[in-house]
Amino acid sequence: MNIRDIARLAGVSVSTVSKVMNGKDKDIGEETKKRVLKIIEEEHYVPYFKFREKEGLKSHLIGLILKRSNRERENIVFGAEQEARRQGYGLIVSYVDEEEEIEEIVDGMIKKKTEGLLIDSGKRIPGGALENAIVYLNQTQKFDERQKAVFYYRLSEAGRLAVERLVEAGHQKIACIIRLNDKSILDGYRLAMQRNNLQCSKVWTYEGNSIEDIEKYGIPQCLSEDVTAVVCGSQEIACCVCKWMERSRTVIPDELSVITIGDGKLLEILGCGITAVKLPGENMSCDAAGYLIHMLQEEKQAEVMRKFSPVLKERNSIVHPPQEKQGGKIIVVGSLNMDVTIEVSRIPVNGETQLAKKVYVFPGGKGGNQAVGVGKLGGQVYMIGCLGNDMDGKQLYSSLMENHVHMDGVLLDRLLPSGKAYINVDEKGESAIVVYPGANRKLSVTQINRCKYLFQNAKYCLLSLEIPSEIAEYTIKLCKRNHTEVILKPSASDKIREDLLKDIAYFVPNEKELDTFVPGDKSLEEKAGILREKGIETVIVTRGSRGCYLRNRELSMYFEGTGFEPVDTTGGADSFISALAVYLSEGRDIVQSIGFAIYASGISVTRYGVQPALPDRKAVDIYKEEIHFRYSDGEKGSK
Ligand code: RIB
Repeated sequence: MNIRDIARLAGVSVSTVSKVMNGKDKDIGEETKKRVLKIIEEEHYVPYFKFREKEGLKSHLIGLILKRSNRERENIVFGAEQEARRQGYGLIVSYVDEEEEIEEIVDGMIKKKTEGLLIDSGKRIPGGALENAIVYLNQTQKFDERQKAVFYYRLSEAGRLAVERLVEAGHQKIACIIRLNDKSILDGYRLAMQRNNLQCSKVWTYEGNSIEDIEKYGIPQCLSEDVTAVVCGSQEIACCVCKWMERSRTVIPDELSVITIGDGKLLEILGCGITAVKLPGENMSCDAAGYLIHMLQEEKQAEVMRKFSPVLKERNSIVHPPQEKQGGKIIVVGSLNMDVTIEVSRIPVNGETQLAKKVYVFPGGKGGNQAVGVGKLGGQVYMIGCLGNDMDGKQLYSSLMENHVHMDGVLLDRLLPSGKAYINVDEKGESAIVVYPGANRKLSVTQINRCKYLFQNAKYCLLSLEIPSEIAEYTIKLCKRNHTEVILKPSASDKIREDLLKDIAYFVPNEKELDTFVPGDKSLEEKAGILREKGIETVIVTRGSRGCYLRNRELSMYFEGTGFEPVDTTGGADSFISALAVYLSEGRDIVQSIGFAIYASGISVTRYGVQPALPDRKAVDIYKEEIHFRYSDGEKGSK
């Protein structure tokens, strides 16, 4: 608005307006003068402060000083602006990075002739000429009692409300991921968890210093802890959670309920809509602006404190939690390979060339197979391993993901290709394997340490030796510290240090591997006995189609095989170990667990490849009664 606009609106010339403004208005009629003044007043024609002062006109301007870090700043500006305009006032907004800058901005606002101020601060600010015309805005109840007018809401209340909503839907395992400067949300979360007598594991909460930090570390940490719901501190965090869920092919809300603090348009379009706790920034500033203007008009000093409450904005991201997985957590540390399976009439010997009947390429690797095995049988499984950043790596990653394996512990190495296994399978289904470790070699102590949180309440760790032996040894020690029982498959072996054998709960070699560990002519029972003497708690020797042998403190016992016709025995032991771990993790005894494992591996070897051949729970449960009858009630084999 300039002098020409005023002249146009008043229907007079620019020089008439100028004369009125400058008091040289003797020759101007009273009515014209009044009309010009009225328009100046209505339009808040600010550059003419002196004139206005002289005429006793008010600026009709209020100031808003906001911290740039205030997460509700857009809504606060919007609310204050709307109300100011409704009441015929203008709003000047200034942002500060630090509380200390506010005083200087206040001075500037006084110079701009603002009549009153809305200030985002928990401390009383010396207001000079505007001392009695300040209303404070706040996100907590922590403010200087000497402040006079305070309009506030509590961010912690939003955290509390979010948890209450999830608890009402039946959730107990609730994560909370926030930015560092939103700590109050976490206070509210903790309070609500406590009030509902809910345990709150350390790894369920994350305070990130940037959204990248949250995406990289916070989300994998919190969401791999088998939580059923998550409180996201902001819309951006909710976006990252959705992205993560999409990548891991898990569904909101069926597998994870989500609620976000702070509402916005983005939440309407994410998934089927994300439920939010709407913060009252807009209402609060609208009310505060109205109150400030009222103070100015009535020339009143105010001493008022007004509290605003966050409200729920229901969408479609909260449902009852999914049924809990029955068993405890199982970690797999091992190899991930792409298997090239070559069907031959018999395994080639020195100097021989053979023509292959068929060649297949399947995802494999002992670690990968075991993880997929557990996932298919309904266990809670977390993989730690290393892949190459190549096509094989991508295919292996997908195969594990599709089978419900948590993949936060898997890294892609930029230099080495993914591991490969070249497998000859003969007509009887027997196999011989050559492994190229590739990226599996890159599994490091740093990577294991990055996944330490996974071990905290893990029941079992499945370990195989196609990874560097120092990593296997480090993992054994870490498991010991966390009371996680190690189930070790001593394949491709490098031997394990003797002093660590006592920290292995289950040692599962095949007969050849047993001979490597205990060479000589002794019987299988004797060799298993020797390993027990070295400190291993339970030795299970797998014997292919002939079943297995168990030796522990109480039992020395053979288990028969299933009698199923094998076509490809590759990965039979991986299938056995994953099924054993799943049953043990559900609290079954060793005999029942071995029975279940024999059938799972018996089924797997009737199919080609490993990961596609591993049975799901239904396929094994068909034999439930038979398993019970054979191994628990009747022919348990010889003791
Ligand atoms: O146990 C079978 C596995 O051993 C194969 O999948 C192959 O990759 C090797 O690691």
